[in-house]
Amino acid sequence: MTEILLRGRVLTFHAEPIMGEASTETFTYIEDGALLIRDGKIVAMDNYTVLQSGEGGSVEVIDHRPHLIMPGFIDCHIHYPQMQVVGSYAGALLEWLDKYTFVEEQKFSNQGHPARIASAFFDELIRNGTTTAAAYCSVHKGSVQAFFAESHKRNMRMIAGKVMMDRNAPPGLLDTPQSGYDQSRELIDEWHGEGRQLYAITPRFAPTSTPEQLEMSGALVREFPELHVQTHLCENAAEIAFVAELFPWSRDYTDVYRHYGLLGPKTLLGHCIHLTDAEISVIASSKSVAVFCPTSNLFIGSGLFNLARLRDADVRTAIATDIGGGTSYSMLRTLDEGYKILNIQGQRYHPLRSFYQATLGNARALSLDGVIGSFKPGAEADCVILDARATPAMRVRMETVETLVEELMLLQTMGDDRCIAEVYVAGSPSKSTLTTC
Ligand code: GUN
Ligand code: ZN
Repeated sequence: MTEILLRGRVLTFHAEPIMGEASTETFTYIEDGALLIRDGKIVAMDNYTVLQSGEGGSVEVIDHRPHLIMPGFIDCHIHYPQMQVVGSYAGALLEWLDKYTFVEEQKFSNQGHPARIASAFFDELIRNGTTTAAAYCSVHKGSVQAFFAESHKRNMRMIAGKVMMDRNAPPGLLDTPQSGYDQSRELIDEWHGEGRQLYAITPRFAPTSTPEQLEMSGALVREFPELHVQTHLCENAAEIAFVAELFPWSRDYTDVYRHYGLLGPKTLLGHCIHLTDAEISVIASSKSVAVFCPTSNLFIGSGLFNLARLRDADVRTAIATDIGGGTSYSMLRTLDEGYKILNIQGQRYHPLRSFYQATLGNARALSLDGVIGSFKPGAEADCVILDARATPAMRVRMETVETLVEELMLLQTMGDDRCIAEVYVAGSPSKSTLTTC
């Protein structure tokens, strides 16, 4: 049995602080708090003195004061084969995919490449305080093997899947409806539920799948209804026009996924920027999740995610980096860009709400609340230690910060990986033990 007591300023959410009200019903904040962790799980959260005396002084104490202790960040949409795509000088989505992304992803058939990138990828997630992600691999089965092997070795809670794509991409990136189905099944058998690994059925997006492949994807969903499904939806006008051409019978883009049985409470729809009211209503009633990818939407020039419109229609939402369309692995940078996208539309994004979203909110979007995203007893002990004085400029700014809310706002506005003082994965310190820096 391994047991540790983390001491610091503990912050965890119980519900969404919709108006950003500092009501303690939506979160718990303990100034001199502690988390008791046993065998990788949260046992208790309380005042330090209470937990310390309860343990009779025998437990190892790791003192993180004056830093904040929060649940590890969750990234609901990221492409691990796109580490070497970030910052590519392209026009809009389809050009960006053809010129850079599809070129890089073909390299994942090369011996050794997936394992090397997977290792660098998980180092980067840890460095940025991200302990869970919903990730796209490439079309190659070996890319998924390398991803899960690395994640399993690090005991991280990950969701990932082999991209299925059988048209409108270079030959080196195409599978077939049958091979996409067979390889997905093999990977599900091998990896789903292995340690903390979860498999996601991953048809890339409607333009790169034939009707036959989407049919086979729907068959996988019917056979494995507990699995996540991830794809892209309504990111860009040319993409939407292409889908209308490829599926002329469809009412709209969302209708394509609905038709093949791909919508549902475990479905993550990346982007969801240019939706009609009819599409929003179908997404809401299916309980699918619209994933906001701020840095990507700005970098690729896709448009402004309208959070208020989706939430008013009861659409579930999440937030994500979308590396390599996205430009930062940091969920802090992501929250900051999200704030700006909403602010420009006259929408407020209170820091309590954004930190809720990056933790419990995203856990709920993944139907994993109770497992990750909070410090509920029994939850997996993935934690991030946040230092709001990590840079000289932040130290100076902190001199005028008086409240927790102001500190969170500063962390998301000026913060990045330098603010991540330590990361615990299932109770094990994982940033200080990285070999690359
Ligand atoms: N649509 C289909 N594939 C992708 C991708 O890799 N990135 C983004 N941003 N959009 C996509
Ligand atoms: Zn994406």
